[in-house]
Amino acid sequence: MDGYIGVFDSGVGGLTVVKEIIQILPYEDVVYLGDTARVPYGTKSPETVSRFSLQCLKFLSNYPLKVVVVACNTVSSTSLDVLKDNTDVPIIDVIKPGASSAVMSTRTGKIAVIGTKATISSMAYVRAIHNIDNSITVYQKACPLFVPIVEEGLQDDEIALIVARRYLNYLLDKDIDTVVLGCTHYPLLKGVIRKVFSNDVQLIDSAYQTSIAVSEKLNEMSALRNVSREKPEHLFYVTDIPNDFQRVATNFLGWDYVYVKKVNIDEE
Ligand code: DGL
Repeated sequence: MDGYIGVFDSGVGGLTVVKEIIQILPYEDVVYLGDTARVPYGTKSPETVSRFSLQCLKFLSNYPLKVVVVACNTVSSTSLDVLKDNTDVPIIDVIKPGASSAVMSTRTGKIAVIGTKATISSMAYVRAIHNIDNSITVYQKACPLFVPIVEEGLQDDEIALIVARRYLNYLLDKDIDTVVLGCTHYPLLKGVIRKVFSNDVQLIDSAYQTSIAVSEKLNEMSALRNVSREKPEHLFYVTDIPNDFQRVATNFLGWDYVYVKKVNIDEE
């Protein structure tokens, strides 16, 4: 059966997941939606995030979907059940893959999770980590300015380092050896986050693990795997002016050009 891998996020963050998916599943068609008109999601209530996410899901459902990847920790931690109740397509989230890699990585048994306000207050990572190993101490820190910095393409600017130090200093004396980048925007800030933590600290980016989960899901339902080896289609949609998204996407994916189309999903 032919079909797309549908992926969505509030903005450019989900591209970190798309990049890994394209890397390990190079023949699959992908349709991406960034809800840039309403980013950030991470400062909004779970009810609002659920409403926006359902509209994203409905938009993606205009395509024949094999699987939906919720490439957003905020949505994964607040709205997964609502999404699952509204589609028969398998849904893959980003929390479980990140939590299990973090548990595998830690030696000190002390993990930090950084994310949006909504993700941190949902405690979704704490639960996911404790489901695997209850003895692990989890420290959490919300970093709400990180998403606008990335959306503006300022991840390599000195402002990003100042903000990172301000948020992350609190974690430095806690004997943490593993930090979960609990927001899909944050891998774009790896450079500055790395400058704050010592080199012994592992930064866990759930993008790679999530793409493995997608691949396993397609293998599990082997009829879903695209074996045609034809050039795949990669479609990118946003809900507001595409320019900034296009610039960040072209840069981040390392392509010559990324065609991005604006759509209205309010009516979905
Ligand atoms: N990239 C998203 C996440 O993983 C959303 C960030 C936001 O919109 O606040 O949480």
